[in-house]
Amino acid sequence: MAALRIVMFGPPGAGKGTQAKRIAEVYGLPHISTGDIFRDHLSRGTELGGQVRQHLDAGRLVPDELTCSVVAGRLSEADCANGFILDGFPRSLPQAEMLGTHLAGQGHALDLVVNIDVPDEEIVERLSARRTCAVCGAIFNRKFDPPAGDGARCDRPGCSGELVQRKDDQEETIRERLSVYHETTEPIIEYYGNQSVLKSIAGSGATPDRVFADIRAILGAGKAG
Ligand code: AP5
Repeated sequence: MAALRIVMFGPPGAGKGTQAKRIAEVYGLPHISTGDIFRDHLSRGTELGGQVRQHLDAGRLVPDELTCSVVAGRLSEADCANGFILDGFPRSLPQAEMLGTHLAGQGHALDLVVNIDVPDEEIVERLSARRTCAVCGAIFNRKFDPPAGDGARCDRPGCSGELVQRKDDQEETIRERLSVYHETTEPIIEYYGNQSVLKSIAGSGATPDRVFADIRAILGAGKAG
């Protein structure tokens, strides 16, 4: 299969992680979530974890310089040679420019930026009900995608991990994340629109299966264009 370099884009709670996990599985690509990387460092108490904690807790962006160095390091790993799915990066114009420069330096470019469109009020409802498996990282939703059983444990095969709520999924922090998105991240839509790699899909009123079918249709149709 040809290499695929994909960015999952959209507001917090649009379903980027949900879809990135599915694409990663079907297309055999590494799923790189900057939020997951930061949360992993936080939980392990590393130096990087200490540097990002206050930003994550407040729902604000980690400074570009720090985020870009983390992503550049990750993209240089061997498993990214044949493509990747970036989830949560880039989130500012300087980050988008860094990514373009990094890929150009390797003779590559992005194939596709998938923009999942969901209105703010639906996001607040979704994120307030999100639960994540503390063991395997599966994402659930108490309202829209509950696990089987009593709803307290992961129902993925071989896993029964505890389902936990992210600290930044409190309403006040969700609204701050949305405001950061509109101010700093949303302008990237125009940046990628000008490069003809952007595809927008409706993430509202559509099940995760429906959204995934739309993404597969785009990939099957030969990426963006
Ligand atoms: P990050 O972890 O990236 O959070 P986010 O972008 O705010 O995105 P989320 O993970 O909240 O949502 P998602 O779009 O993945 O949705 P999901 O699939 O879970 O970042 C966290 C923090 O890290 C940032 O605030 C910042 O501090 C820092 N950070 C990260 N990257 C950074 C960067 N590049 N620069 C600087 N700082 C950075 O779905 C949400 C819920 O909806 C789930 O419950 C799911 O089950 C449900 N759902 C999914 N699809 C559907 C559907 N179609 N219908 C109904 N429900 C659905």
